[in-house]
Amino acid sequence: MKTTIRLLLIPILSLQILAQRTDQNFNAGWKFIRADLPDSAAMQEYNDSSWQAVRLPHDWAITGPFDSLAADGGSGKLPWRGVGWYRKSFMIPAADSDRCVYLDFDGVMAFPEVFINGKLAGQWDYGYVPFRIDATPYIRSGARNTVAVRVDTRKHATRWYPGAGIYRNVKLVTCAPIHIAHWGTYATTPVVSDTAATVLIRTSIENSGNADARISVSIELADPKGRIVASKKTADTVPARGSRDIEQSLRVPGPLRWDIGNPALYSAKTSVLADGKPVDADHTHFGIRVAEFTANDGFHLNGRRVQLQGVDLHHDLGPLGAAFNRRAMERELAVMKDMGVNALRTSHNPPAAEVLDLCDSMGILVWDECFDKWGPYADMRPGDRLETYGEKQLRNFVMRDRNHPCVVIWSIGNEMASQPRDTNGMSPERNAFMRDYVRRYDPTRPVGMACDNTSLAAKDNHTLDSLDVVGWNYGRRYLPFRKRYPAKPIVYSESGSAVSTYGFYEPPPPSTKTAFSKQFQVDSYDHNAMGYSDIPDVEFAYMEKDRYVAGEFVWTGFDYLGEPSPFFKQARSSYFGIVDLCGIPKDRFYLYRSHWRSDATTIHILPHWNWPERKGKPVPVYIYTNGDSAELFLNGRSLGARAKSRALPDEPLNLACGLPSNASSEERDPCSNANDGNPYTRWTAAAGDTISPRWQVDLGSDQSVRLLSIDFARSAEHYQYFIKASNDGALWNTVAAKSDWSGAENHMEYEVDIQARFFRIQFAGTREARAGIREFGVYSQKSDLSYYSVTDHYRLRWNNVPYEPGELRTVAYKNGKKIGESIMRTAGAPHALRLTPDRAAIAANGDDLSCILIEAIDAKGNPCPLADNSISVSIAGPGSIAALANGNPLSLEPFQDATHRLFFGKAMLIIRGIEGKAGVVRVTAGGKGLKDGVASLSVK
Ligand code: GAL
Repeated sequence: MKTTIRLLLIPILSLQILAQRTDQNFNAGWKFIRADLPDSAAMQEYNDSSWQAVRLPHDWAITGPFDSLAADGGSGKLPWRGVGWYRKSFMIPAADSDRCVYLDFDGVMAFPEVFINGKLAGQWDYGYVPFRIDATPYIRSGARNTVAVRVDTRKHATRWYPGAGIYRNVKLVTCAPIHIAHWGTYATTPVVSDTAATVLIRTSIENSGNADARISVSIELADPKGRIVASKKTADTVPARGSRDIEQSLRVPGPLRWDIGNPALYSAKTSVLADGKPVDADHTHFGIRVAEFTANDGFHLNGRRVQLQGVDLHHDLGPLGAAFNRRAMERELAVMKDMGVNALRTSHNPPAAEVLDLCDSMGILVWDECFDKWGPYADMRPGDRLETYGEKQLRNFVMRDRNHPCVVIWSIGNEMASQPRDTNGMSPERNAFMRDYVRRYDPTRPVGMACDNTSLAAKDNHTLDSLDVVGWNYGRRYLPFRKRYPAKPIVYSESGSAVSTYGFYEPPPPSTKTAFSKQFQVDSYDHNAMGYSDIPDVEFAYMEKDRYVAGEFVWTGFDYLGEPSPFFKQARSSYFGIVDLCGIPKDRFYLYRSHWRSDATTIHILPHWNWPERKGKPVPVYIYTNGDSAELFLNGRSLGARAKSRALPDEPLNLACGLPSNASSEERDPCSNANDGNPYTRWTAAAGDTISPRWQVDLGSDQSVRLLSIDFARSAEHYQYFIKASNDGALWNTVAAKSDWSGAENHMEYEVDIQARFFRIQFAGTREARAGIREFGVYSQKSDLSYYSVTDHYRLRWNNVPYEPGELRTVAYKNGKKIGESIMRTAGAPHALRLTPDRAAIAANGDDLSCILIEAIDAKGNPCPLADNSISVSIAGPGSIAALANGNPLSLEPFQDATHRLFFGKAMLIIRGIEGKAGVVRVTAGGKGLKDGVASLSVK
């Protein structure tokens, strides 16, 4: 009798156990210490009671303190470099004794070693790539187990703030010996038409048991509404201690396309049965869409051209640091979408997995990138072969991300150096290897990279031959590549690198892109950019002209920690962002929005209108609007209307282009390169030609000349020179000279008024450079050449508004119809604080956030644009301060304190709910002499 009962029970029990795959969030209950300890810290009995209790994702460095003595702010002046340990103990039920146990890490910065019950179970290197640890051999079922992770960032090289620690999500997966492999479901759509789509599902099944297994795999496809639209079942055998890939083809009639406006997501439910019993199942989202990069017409999605309006984003979340937070990322993407963004480049590394889930559901196209420079910036161990290392990273990168319809291109890197200069750099063979690795795991998407070095397009250079699509960073550098490879699609993978500080203006606006303020802040009239790059309007014009380019990715959407050009020493975060570090849009946001979103009304006035020290003096006023004209009023008086220039300014005619030129010497770069109309080719003097190298051109006859321009090979600070003109080539007049080592940019211009046939530049001295010219320009007019004239096509400018306090009002029009108006008022003294949460209700899951804008306002409610009061916040109820910050790149105030200064009148408070605790969070913010501001959030 007893025996019968047992016999009956066992199969039922094991069937239940077998059927379950547990896929648990493993983020809670960790202990952490920032110290380098011996490996005995991994032993189960180790006493970690003094360690800090943390919840993952965790970035140990974001709590600082900032290093005020740091030599530069390149990686954020934060203490990310070092060693840290994490520990957690967990139960594995006795019933799981024959199951497989895995730990899935989405990213650990960097070089993690994972110990289970004191034994090294596995390790990884590259901080941005996900990896799995097979814990099965080390686990004790029916007992407590300890996982310990040692993290070491000391060998991690970076050009921005990387964060430190287990900064992305971790999962604990337990499953039956016969199970779907890690990232083992792969969905592709080889045929897509309006009538039907063919969906291919490849499922990799692993069998860790000692006997071959008869299995079957059932697939059910559900449409975006959850209705089953196709199903299929296939039987096969998985060998003992082996694996089997099972491919099933399903037909979806009348498929809905995944698109940026309608991101329709299908799902595949995969169920695995062994000997007729369910052993595993998973769900995979995928999309049905056709994406193609064309050589002559940019990017096509579902058969139509879509201009990529993209941004580059680094992985940090501003004051939250590198610790991934889904809501913070969702907010960034929502702000970007509101600006008109339809594409994201994950510069320069794989993002957190959830970023792609968000892009899938928000309809954002993704340029998914694996590396920033292979050699120095890869987390390679000494003795690693780049090929072996590269394949391992590319495999995990592609396998994790290949089902996401948002991903439209794989990038194997950014701005790589070439061999032999860098032994880990590019070569034609190595690029082909990397491309093939990617294709091995996903042949359905193009493989590309982002380049900055135009010599890769030289005719004897084959480095880029193997790539499907090539991205170019800045300065229209794609031009020579286009000439050399007319059949390869091009993306402007970085544009902009314009810089500004929220709220900071020093009228008049800067006269050149690199005329930077002495205050270590960057003027917000949007005239400044790094020397190698351009203001947004210049890039807009390129994108309007160069329709073969798929579109641009602006550097960057948000400010990020690190790389604070042009104040690398003084600051700790970037000035590149269109939105500041704490999420407040800068003026540039409205410039992009007005150009990218014709469907939405944008009417933005800059600067602020509080200039007591400039009474009666001119303060330029700009309007960024999607309208085509606007009228501006100051205290009710019209200052006139302005209309955007209809056509882009013509490129002026260079009278010297293509005409006979000669030089005192040349080696590889001939003299004709300096007047061939291509700024990416150059003339360079021969090595020995150092006394007074010269280059000259013959216009053929006397011409009336008003402007000369020279684009040097390097910035002008490397050269001293005379520019001379002549009517006969014998008698020369000096028309311009530079006898000092000034000039931060490559470009120099001289206004002249002469009749001449010959023009010559004679170098008087060169510093760390040979004499070299990219382009010598001779023009009959000077007016059209102003760098900023193109802005009249995109902005409306009133350059001489005599300041008086009061009200600026603008009324904007499109095709003669009023589209709206906007007002900017002079503020009185700061009187109170105003709190505006982005969300009034958040989930009580320990991750969800509300971002509360804190502003100083005057007695009438006007924002005070100059307020820099110190404020403190207090909260009551089930929430905590995740961060308190402002957009000041120079600030070294900690992000976790309850006090902070306002920066140009604003700060941002980020509140996090507490897991499992519902209620109301009441927030109060106060400052000396200011009425408190309050807000309440409901946490559910
Ligand atoms: C690019 C580089 C980016 C960033 C940017 C700043 O050349 O790819 O990572 O450094 O410059 O302008």
